[in-house]
Amino acid sequence: WLAQRRLRELAIQEIRRGHERHGLLVDTIQGAEIIQSCGGGWRFADTWRTITATMADSSLKSKLISSTVTTTTGTLGTIAYVAAMIAGVTQIEAGVLTTGGLVGCTILGGRVIGPIAQSIQTLVQWQYVRESLAMVNRLLELETDRRDDQNLMIPDYLADTLDLEAVRFAYPTSPLQRVDIKRLSFKAGDRVVLLGANGCGKSTLLKVAAGLYKPSEGQVRLGGADLWELDPQVINERIGYLPQDVHLFKGTLRTNMALGGGVNDSRLLEVAQLLGIDRVAAENPRSMDLEISEGGQGLSGGQRQLVGLARVFLASPRVWLLDEPSASLDMESENNILEAINSWARPTDIVIIATHRPRLTSLANRVIIMNHGQIVADGKPEDVLQKRPVKQNVPAGNAIAVRN
Ligand SMILES: Nc1ncnc2c1ncn2[C@@H]1O[C@H](COP(=O)(O)OP(=O)(O)OP(=O)(O)O)[C@@H](O)[C@H]1O
Ligand SMILES: [Mg+2]
Repeated sequence: WLAQRRLRELAIQEIRRGHERHGLLVDTIQGAEIIQSCGGGWRFADTWRTITATMADSSLKSKLISSTVTTTTGTLGTIAYVAAMIAGVTQIEAGVLTTGGLVGCTILGGRVIGPIAQSIQTLVQWQYVRESLAMVNRLLELETDRRDDQNLMIPDYLADTLDLEAVRFAYPTSPLQRVDIKRLSFKAGDRVVLLGANGCGKSTLLKVAAGLYKPSEGQVRLGGADLWELDPQVINERIGYLPQDVHLFKGTLRTNMALGGGVNDSRLLEVAQLLGIDRVAAENPRSMDLEISEGGQGLSGGQRQLVGLARVFLASPRVWLLDEPSASLDMESENNILEAINSWARPTDIVIIATHRPRLTSLANRVIIMNHGQIVADGKPEDVLQKRPVKQNVPAGNAIAVRN
């Protein structure tokens, strides 16, 4: 029983360290270039060695315990066998037991002790299985975004509105409310530019509005319906979201643009032309079938951003949530995507763009300024950007540039 407890502790330790080592491996491969440029390889090699040493230590200890228990059981078995023989011979001499009886007893004894010794190995395996199962169960027991018994709505009609009511959101790692909004409504035709200093919560707000993060409190309503009561398919059709860091997948330019599927070639080419992606394709002999490696290698940062934007264009959403769509673009490409958004978005669509680039305010009929997760200004661009003094947390770059 004691050995079993210790074996369990060692199994847990070995499994956890194994996960850590796997995570470190993925992290190191993904960040290989930056590790090399910073000369930080030794740090990762050190961590790798430490984890491997701990794993080897746990494995050695568990093997030591299992072999000690196996040997002890074997020795005890042999002692019991010898004792049985001595006792048996004495009994035969006394005429109580026959020779056949003794032979029978020793065969039976061996049959009982043998499996006990073997079961020690099974016990070690069992500890690993038990712990792995417990981990999988803990994962399955985690609360899901939507309840299993929930009847998700697929409404016939949804108005072109997006409302946030008393929405608060905090990341699990910190109690700070990264989004804390009493009321924020967007109506058809809104062209909103969302401004604010680094870390004020713009990206978090867009993710909450896109239904990617569930608010800790309050409601996000799409066309009057609670976003978390709607079928995800409905949300995907109506809300288009461009993340700040666009992730491309292994495949081709075409498969990466039409990630959601169901896109015909002419539409794909139309969007590619509109955003200037056709120029990327033209430089490559495989054209739109240009190969893309894991993480988007094979394209430049700006080109990756254009592909991300193309995904939103191809989805033709009613609500566009664009997080820094032009952060990696040159001025010409930025102008180009501004024109493209203006021409592709329907007049009734809601377009919300989080940005630090002042030029994008030219598209807006509404400017919202965030600070520490809250809305500190909301109104027409000329009102918000002219009236609000720079010291009140308006990002200085934006305010000055627009005035000039
Ligand atoms: N995954 C996360 N876990 C914990 N905290 C996070 C996470 N992502 C962001 N934060 C924190 O939440 C705050 C808001 O981050 P967010 O990315 O929304 O800011 P932002 O306004 O988009 O900034 P930027 O202009 O730099 O893109 C930051 O202080 C950040 O440290
Ligand atoms: Mg951001």
